[in-house]
Amino acid sequence: MELRCANMDDAELILKWRNDADTRRNSFSEKEITLEDHLKWFSGRLSDSGCHIFILENEEKAVGNIRLDILDDEGKIGEISYMVAPECRGQGYGGILLQRIEDKAREMGISILTGLVKAENIASKKCFEKQGYAAAFAGTIISYIKLL
Ligand SMILES: CC(C)(COP(=O)(O)OP(=O)(O)OC[C@H]1O[C@@H](n2cnc3c(N)ncnc32)[C@H](O)[C@@H]1OP(=O)(O)O)[C@@H](O)C(=O)NCCC(=O)NCCS
Repeated sequence: MELRCANMDDAELILKWRNDADTRRNSFSEKEITLEDHLKWFSGRLSDSGCHIFILENEEKAVGNIRLDILDDEGKIGEISYMVAPECRGQGYGGILLQRIEDKAREMGISILTGLVKAENIASKKCFEKQGYAAAFAGTIISYIKLL
């Protein structure tokens, strides 16, 4: 399995995953995103030095993606957003994405990883907890944090 950098060719696939009903339910903005808005957003993120987007491939099939947004000026804190292709969920890829991003984060000099998860998102909570993240509850949102 390979975790590679995303590029513009991945834009439509990521939009398809993002507009899937389960992804929308588990996202902080649940509305469907248009291709036009997505392409604008995606190209902006790819050219932003504070944002790193990766695709997980298994035997050359894209099975998930994970994004790291750098939150601080020193580049030490990375916030995770991730999703698995709808047809590949429940097969362990979520945990693999969280595992694999740690090496990339260390290479970038990141020492703290965080992720925000809706309290009802059982699969994501299990992924973060299995990877050793600590949880802080803030109403219906859980904030996960891990020191690398
Ligand atoms: C959340 C997500 C990334 C998890 O990835 P995944 O590959 O499906 O998860 P895994 O297969 O690694 O499963 C993790 C655990 O959750 C459990 N699980 C998976 N889907 C579940 C579901 N719908 N309900 C309850 N538990 C579920 C698995 O059985 C597994 O439990 P175990 O570790 O005790 O065996 C993926 O489901 C997804 O992309 N969801 C939509 C987008 C999203 O929610 N992104 C995260 C936002 S914070």
